[in-house]
Amino acid sequence: TENIYILAIESSCDDTAAAVLCNNNVLSNIIAGQEVHAQYGGVVPELASRAHQQNIVPVVDQAIKKAGISKKDLNAIAFTRGPGLMGSLLVGTSFAKSLSIGLKIPLIEVNHMQAHILAHFIEDASAKKPVFPFLALTISGGHTQIVQVNSYFDLQILGETIDDAVGEAFDKSGKILGLGYPAGPQIDQLAKLGNPKAFKFSKPKVEGLNFSFSGLKTAILYFIQKETKNNPNFIEQHLNDICASIQHTIVEILLDKLKLAVKQTGITQIAIGGGVSANSGIRTALLNSEKKYGWITYLPKFEYTTDNAAMIGIVGYLKYLNNDFTNQEITASARLKL
Ligand code: KG4
Ligand code: ZN
Repeated sequence: TENIYILAIESSCDDTAAAVLCNNNVLSNIIAGQEVHAQYGGVVPELASRAHQQNIVPVVDQAIKKAGISKKDLNAIAFTRGPGLMGSLLVGTSFAKSLSIGLKIPLIEVNHMQAHILAHFIEDASAKKPVFPFLALTISGGHTQIVQVNSYFDLQILGETIDDAVGEAFDKSGKILGLGYPAGPQIDQLAKLGNPKAFKFSKPKVEGLNFSFSGLKTAILYFIQKETKNNPNFIEQHLNDICASIQHTIVEILLDKLKLAVKQTGITQIAIGGGVSANSGIRTALLNSEKKYGWITYLPKFEYTTDNAAMIGIVGYLKYLNNDFTNQEITASARLKL
């Protein structure tokens, strides 16, 4: 059978990314991050779209070059239509549309959240592949969802956050502790040296499979304000324990909801995706759940957890096989639903 080459473009937030896939194999996966946001403690949308405009041509060129193919070999272009920041999405969407005219090849629109889930189906993403139906926990700086995945194209949201995403909970807690942005990976590292039971933060009471993280952030803020009033050096003296306790609380919140989702659906296969699935606490908890609860868990390789274009490419490939193309009328959609 014929090989299908897909060029994939991702620009939904602050990473400009391009990848080339041959069928379900990744030939290249290039990501240009944006340093500019660190000094502001979060992503500045206007600066993000400007940086995407500067990065997109070299990133796409590099992806094609590294793949060892020529533009003429491409069968289709897949791009992130949403959800994400409008200005950022527009850069990738317009670029993909023009390139599709220039190369006379079809366009495929991709939902960023579907891509975080279907990243598991990239050939080298993990040793074993999820079997339908499975539950997907997508946890990132912008999203927190539990999705029932019945097939590649039949995804049903069972629950999601009603306020902050779990990545924001990590990043905002880190900000309170004086850590740089993004704080998630730093909290993860510091937590390894601390006692997860040192401090107790109450968990939110949210019905069903929805999540809430804004209360946790406030609880941490009040706790730190109270403790530093008595001891100005409280944070530096207890940083590892504070981080371990925050991470422990967040992991418990996620696990509680997964347990409920398993109970409600009877599905015991769990896949995770999104930037926060790089977190060692959540990875360990999921691995332990195999023995503890008899779940089968799927943890993708790190490079496919944070935002990347290879995950856009795998959805592009699956849609290509399904003859699911889009046309030049397509526009970016900041609030695109699954
Ligand atoms: O998926 P992603 O790269 O971008 C979004 O779509 O948001 O996720 C970024 C988020 C940030 O909030 C970052 O702090 C968090 O993922 N993150 C982590 C870890 N690595 C990245 N959070 C906790 N532990 C980590 N190891
Ligand atoms: Zn993402």
